[in-house]
Amino acid sequence: MGRIEIKKNIFWVGAVDWNVRTFHGHTYSTSRGTTYNAYLILDEKIALVDTVYGPFAQEMIERIKEIIPLEKIDYIIANHVETDHSGALPEIMKHCPKAKVLGTEKCKDGLYKHYYGNWDFQVVKTGDKLKLGKRTLTFLEAPMIHWPDSMFTYCPEEELLLPNDAFGQHYATSERFDDEVDEYALMDEAAKYYGNILWPLSTLILKKIEEVQKLDIPIKMIAPSHGIIWRRDPMKIVNAYLSWAKNEMKPKAVVIYETMWGSTEKMARKIVEGITDAGVSVKLFDINSSDRTEIIKEMLDARGYLIGSSTHDNDMLPNIAGFLEFLKGLKPKNRIASAFGSYGWAGGAVKEIEDVMKETGLEVAWPGVSARFVPDKDELQKCYAYGQGFANLLKGGK
Ligand code: FEO
Repeated sequence: MGRIEIKKNIFWVGAVDWNVRTFHGHTYSTSRGTTYNAYLILDEKIALVDTVYGPFAQEMIERIKEIIPLEKIDYIIANHVETDHSGALPEIMKHCPKAKVLGTEKCKDGLYKHYYGNWDFQVVKTGDKLKLGKRTLTFLEAPMIHWPDSMFTYCPEEELLLPNDAFGQHYATSERFDDEVDEYALMDEAAKYYGNILWPLSTLILKKIEEVQKLDIPIKMIAPSHGIIWRRDPMKIVNAYLSWAKNEMKPKAVVIYETMWGSTEKMARKIVEGITDAGVSVKLFDINSSDRTEIIKEMLDARGYLIGSSTHDNDMLPNIAGFLEFLKGLKPKNRIASAFGSYGWAGGAVKEIEDVMKETGLEVAWPGVSARFVPDKDELQKCYAYGQGFANLLKGGK
């Protein structure tokens, strides 16, 4: 196992989880796997920044042992309590008798409530510094980015930011740096990460980035705790975060539907034809054959959402209902939306979808469209016109 030195005497000592396919319970599909990144800083004092998910503890220990004996570690910086970054901590602590753990007050509480360890813990606040020798670590609390305990660590001498989850991606690779991997896949995973985890926290993220910008600290490298390290152009991901946090959108539509016998699907396809012919970019997803994480990523920069369902028991179908429930938690702002769907004898799905859209804060700015049983030529023409009208609304939008 070769050593991976990201800066002189700063080593990546994380783990690559090639096979994980769902994350955060089953709320996130990690189709490209993930990594748990941790960093070992060698100076007069030795610091380990974050650990890895518990099942990878031994792998991490072996990596560290190739560089130094574990008992030499003086400090363990815990930027975040969540178990994918702290799960290995109890095992690591068994090997590091003199190590002091540093984190926020909330981190101290959270780690205790996870592992009940009797560890030497030092609470740190924004602006606190830890002198390691030639290098210093400075701490910046980042509450709710994305947990109350979250914190960034910055090393001014190396112009290195260690922001834990922020700027990360679920992307398992043998490479460690942005200039070594496929750029499309990297930004695709970064957008998925933002959309599915950080989107509802956009106001706080914008404030935090502006706070960091005001500090005017040089940043040459951003080493997050998942995925690839940004060294070629760290501002690329910062600017992407600024764009997402500012809610910048395209005149783009995302059409998502659930169909029982294919009628709502016929409507969805005709709607997409209308949108396309109006010159607006559109993505179509059948909720039952699509990856929800991917759908959310596409919704992140889209101004318009069209949601369709067949009517069942005077309501929408259950999987689209579940999707809308998830979307509600992401709190998308300033989006326009509309509903469509087929029905047999009494409708209901379109109204139910519209009600949830309103609860979610979506602007139901375009009247819904329905078709009875199998849509005929006129009803399909209505769907086409509906798509065109919605597209024109998006083009005229901000
Ligand atoms: Fe919030 Fe990667 O854990």
